[in-house]
Amino acid sequence: MSGRFITIEGIDGAGKSTHIEALAARLRGRGAVVLCTREPGGTPLAERLREMVLTAAMDPLTESLLVFAARRDHVQQQIAPALARGETVICDRFTDATFAYQGGGRGFDTALLGALEGWVHGALQPDLTLWLDLPASLAAERRAAARTADRFEREDLLFFERVRDGYAARAQAAPGRFVRIDAGLERPAVWRQIEAALERRGW
Ligand code: TYD
Repeated sequence: MSGRFITIEGIDGAGKSTHIEALAARLRGRGAVVLCTREPGGTPLAERLREMVLTAAMDPLTESLLVFAARRDHVQQQIAPALARGETVICDRFTDATFAYQGGGRGFDTALLGALEGWVHGALQPDLTLWLDLPASLAAERRAAARTADRFEREDLLFFERVRDGYAARAQAAPGRFVRIDAGLERPAVWRQIEAALERRGW
């Protein structure tokens, strides 16, 4: 028995959080046991690593190693066991975020990230990745209204355009897994696209 692994991605300010709850509610309403989790994080150790990654200055290799270390613990302790029990796992960010932020945003070597990906979670890939895509300028407006910025959120528009390009490259490489959602629309219209992606899969 193997459950479904769904990830949600997008630049900061894309509006992931509001849709994750609705997504979990919809799947639970259809009988799924749902685990909602996030990266970096999802286990006590990975949450400690998250705190470091979001607050301490470090070079891109260190940053990449820490997010993958957190991911290793998370996959082993939470994601793989839940999938083995037949549960649905909804994860707020996963390895595509590393390719987008460290690869695209920081300009770090994506071949090296690919090697780490193979080491850390080998054949385990999401069944569906909902990519909430919108222009960096619009995301920045939404962030400004919403919250205090962490280390990544203080980056400039060009950084977030590169992150967006990083997501686009990953989407192009895995078109069967990725669904691009136009997150620049109003919330109900964004949700309708998410519902449509699930309906196409009979979920
Ligand atoms: P995010 O998930 O957006 O949390 P919040 O809802 O609290 O803002 O923040 C996590 C940050 O970590 C985000 O700016 C992207 C960054 N990040 C990476 O740089 N690499 C990664 O591999 C992951 C998972 C996240």
